[in-house]
Amino acid sequence: MAERVVIDPITRIEGHLRIELETDGKKISKAWSETTQFRGLETILLGRDPRDAWAFTQRICGVCTSVHAIASITAVENAIGSNPPEQARLIRDMVMGSQEIQDHVIHFYHLHALDFVNVPAAANADPAKAVSFARAIGSTWKGNTLERMTEVRDTVKGILDSGQLSVFTGGYWDHPDYRLPPEANLMAVAHYLDALEFQRSMIRIGTVFGGKNPHPNFLVGGMACTIDPSHSESINQVQIDQIGQWIAETTEFVKTCYLPDALAIVGVYKDYFDIGAAQPNFLAVGMAGATYAGDPATARITSAHTEVKPGVLLDGDYSTVHPFDPRKVSEWVTSAWYSYPDGDIGLTPDKGETNVAYTGPKPPYTWLGDNEKYTWCKAPRYDGKVVQVGPVARVLLAYASGHQRTKEIVDGAAATLGISLSQLNSTAGRTLARAVECVTSTEALAETTFPTFVKKIKGGDINVFDATRWEPDSWPKQASGYSFVEVARGNLSHWVSIEDGKISRYQAVVPTTWLAGGRDAGGQQGPYEESLAGDQKHPLVDAAQPLEPLRTIHSFDPCMSCAVHVLDPDGQELLAVLS
Ligand code: NI
Ligand code: MG
Repeated sequence: MAERVVIDPITRIEGHLRIELETDGKKISKAWSETTQFRGLETILLGRDPRDAWAFTQRICGVCTSVHAIASITAVENAIGSNPPEQARLIRDMVMGSQEIQDHVIHFYHLHALDFVNVPAAANADPAKAVSFARAIGSTWKGNTLERMTEVRDTVKGILDSGQLSVFTGGYWDHPDYRLPPEANLMAVAHYLDALEFQRSMIRIGTVFGGKNPHPNFLVGGMACTIDPSHSESINQVQIDQIGQWIAETTEFVKTCYLPDALAIVGVYKDYFDIGAAQPNFLAVGMAGATYAGDPATARITSAHTEVKPGVLLDGDYSTVHPFDPRKVSEWVTSAWYSYPDGDIGLTPDKGETNVAYTGPKPPYTWLGDNEKYTWCKAPRYDGKVVQVGPVARVLLAYASGHQRTKEIVDGAAATLGISLSQLNSTAGRTLARAVECVTSTEALAETTFPTFVKKIKGGDINVFDATRWEPDSWPKQASGYSFVEVARGNLSHWVSIEDGKISRYQAVVPTTWLAGGRDAGGQQGPYEESLAGDQKHPLVDAAQPLEPLRTIHSFDPCMSCAVHVLDPDGQELLAVLS
């Protein structure tokens, strides 16, 4: 009989995810992706003023805060016909861009790299060799000095000698598949610590424009901050100079540290370009930071990369971009604890329902996957197909759309690593694509969005709010709208219906919902499940140390709070191996 393995919760992600697996002792044969908590933000919004929705929706998550606010205000603006000034849009782009870059850096170094980097092994490294290793992989990061590497090695030694591994407790450090040489482990741990410092600079950009972080302030019709270069209480010259400095630091870190590190690590674990593929269908409305709202025929697209339009790539054909149609998005509840009024059919989000119908066992339970329903996560589909969203989707779309810079970085990486474009659909591919798009996003911020914003201020354009549609009596009696936004983890959409000035329906379709959802009525698995069990070849050499499935699930950068808009009290058991 197949061995059953439960990983609950999956750690080093945002929120709570449970994975159930069946394995023959070497390969995974079946997988279930299970989200085990519910919060119900969509329901809380009913009857409220749509101008307040952003403040609630950004509480969906403590990580992806401003992106939910931006999806919300742009959906409401789409519904009521509000048209914010260009400077407000640019500010939103900067807030989103900085959050995306920060998110990718944190994901790579603090949430995912430890699946590949053995921290305790760094204690045995020669600091001089770590400096040479960094040079050899093309990292010109200023932290690659003998003094710094020695300091970090001694810190790791000190932690080990203390007998308390602190944040590194619970890693599968004895697993035989940690492959980096000691000096690479030391370099990566040093960069892990540097990235902690760096990510703080990035998020300050959102703090300046939004007044605080997390949960910055936003406004339907514009932005809540004011711009006045000569006024101390406004976005002024001092802050503009500071933001320019933070963007320059970001560019340096991403190009001299993050991208070379990502390339080096996936290069050592190259077989992971053949592991963890999910369905070869991808959806994005543009490159990172793009927003898309309105009638499909006339939809407004805002993005620093306007040449990349919304599109869908299907059936592993990564050169044909099919036009994106928002009416083809539906959500299924076959495997999720909700009920739909007309039974088990997919509902488009503008008709979406969030009716809780828990049929699972009373906790504590040992196994959920035998039940038809086993998760709080709905299963979104596009035209009935399982599609993936996220950095790979955007990189493939940009590549197929002829975006030169993306092509240049991807072709360079593919040549170095000896991989094909289609191998981006893999565990290592998702990790590489995130680093690739971090470069293009940083360049967009540094070369397009921020300079345009500054230039417009110099030209006297400091308007960030359009009050034309602020008052509810300027709105139609009934209105509905949506907005798709490309955020760190993928495609996020908010859908709102308004009646007599109040929200009558609100649905959020979140990147992790697209990816972590379960089986649908046709029996199609969600992307997490497919990535683990789709080809029956995913390794799992030691059920007591399930490092390989962790690598694959982490490569998606799960955000479970977003996925079901939920929060969990506490997860007790990390791992159970059943017979
Ligand atoms: Ni989130
Ligand atoms: Mg939802």
